[in-house]
Amino acid sequence: MFETQILQPSIENIQLCADMINKGELVGIPTETVYGLAANALDEQAVKKIYIAKGRPQDNPLIVHISDISQIYPLVSEFSPLAEKLAKTFWGGPLTMVLPKSTSLNEVVTGGLDTVAVRLPSHTVACEFITACKVPIAAPSANISGKPSPTTAQHVYNDLNGNIKYILDGGACEVGVESTVISVQDEKIVVLRPGDVTVSQLKTVCEDVSVAKGVTQRLSMDAKVSSPGLKYKHYAPKAKVILIDATYEAFCDYIRQSDKQNVGLMLFDDDDNVFELPTVTYGKRQDTADQRKRLFSALRRLDTLKVDTVYARFNNEDEIGFAVYNRLIRAAGFEVIKLW
Ligand code: TXA
Ligand code: MG
Repeated sequence: MFETQILQPSIENIQLCADMINKGELVGIPTETVYGLAANALDEQAVKKIYIAKGRPQDNPLIVHISDISQIYPLVSEFSPLAEKLAKTFWGGPLTMVLPKSTSLNEVVTGGLDTVAVRLPSHTVACEFITACKVPIAAPSANISGKPSPTTAQHVYNDLNGNIKYILDGGACEVGVESTVISVQDEKIVVLRPGDVTVSQLKTVCEDVSVAKGVTQRLSMDAKVSSPGLKYKHYAPKAKVILIDATYEAFCDYIRQSDKQNVGLMLFDDDDNVFELPTVTYGKRQDTADQRKRLFSALRRLDTLKVDTVYARFNNEDEIGFAVYNRLIRAAGFEVIKLW
C-alpha cells in the first residue's frame, strides 16, 4: 500500500494532479462545498474507479464539474433559457443542475439515467484544476459511501489513504454542506437536495420552485425517486444518532430521564453542557451558517467518542438551517423525537 500525499495547491501541484486525471487516475480536490473525488468524466474506466474507491452504488450518478459555462454544451442535449439564466445567476457557486444528457456522454457517469448533473464551482483551486485538466471532471464527495462528506483534506485522507495518490489541500470548505441539486424542466425547478443556494434565491429566477418528497421523508429502497441519492443511507457515524426537536430545557429533561450508559451528545457551542457525557458541538445556536460549516466535521468527531447512542440538538429551521436539517435527519436515519 502507498501513502496518499496531501499537496499544497501550487501551480506545479495542480498540474501534477491534472496529469494524473489525464492518465485515468483519481485525485482529491477542494471545492467551496465539500472535497470531491475527481476523475475525467469522459473516461469510462476512470469514472468506474470512483464507484469502487467510494463503495458507491452504481445507480447513484455523479456530478460533472466544469470551470467555464461554455463547457456545458457537449454534456447536455438541451440548455434551456431558464437553465442558462440559473447558470449566469448562481455559477460559480454551490448549485448543481440536472439537465437532459447529451447522447455522447457515457452512462457510467450518469448511473444509466438520461439526465446529467452539472456544476461550476467557485473555489479557485477547483476551477484552476478543472481548467488544467482540459476535460470535464466527475466528482462526488470524497468520502467512503455512507460516511459524512469531507470538509478538509485530512478527512479525505482518513477515508481514502492508499486509494488515491494525491489530495489538493484548499483548506477547510467555506460552505461545508454539498451543493443544492435541482432539476430544471418545463420552466419548473425541483430541489432534489437543499444547500447554500436557497429556495428563496431560486425563486428570484423562477416562480415555480418545489422541494422533492425524499428531501425530508424516508423513502423505501424500491421507491421511484427523482434523484437516486435520496434513497441511500448518508452521513452516518458509527453510533446511532437520535435527533431531538425541542427547546434546550426539554432536551435536558429528556436526557435526564434516559439511560446514560454509552451515550454522547451533539450540542450547540453555546448550550450550557450540564451533563458529564462525551460531547461534540457544531456551531452557535442561532448561527445556521456556522452550523452548516461545522456539521460534517462534528459528525466525524462523533466516532471518536466511543459511544453507542448520540442525542443531537435540532437546529433552527431557516433556509440555511433546512440544508443542515436535511443532513441531520439522514445521519439520524430519520429518527426524530419531537417534544413540542
Ligand atoms: O457540492 C457538491 O455537490 C459536491 C462537490 C464535490 O461538488 N459533490 C457531491 O456529489 O456532493 P455527490 O455525488 O456526493 O452527490 C451528488 C448527488 C447525489 O445525491 C446524486 O444522486 C445526485 O446528486 N445526482 C447526480 N446526478 C443526478 C441526476 N442525473 N439526476 C438526479 N440526481 C442526480
Ligand atoms: Mg456524497
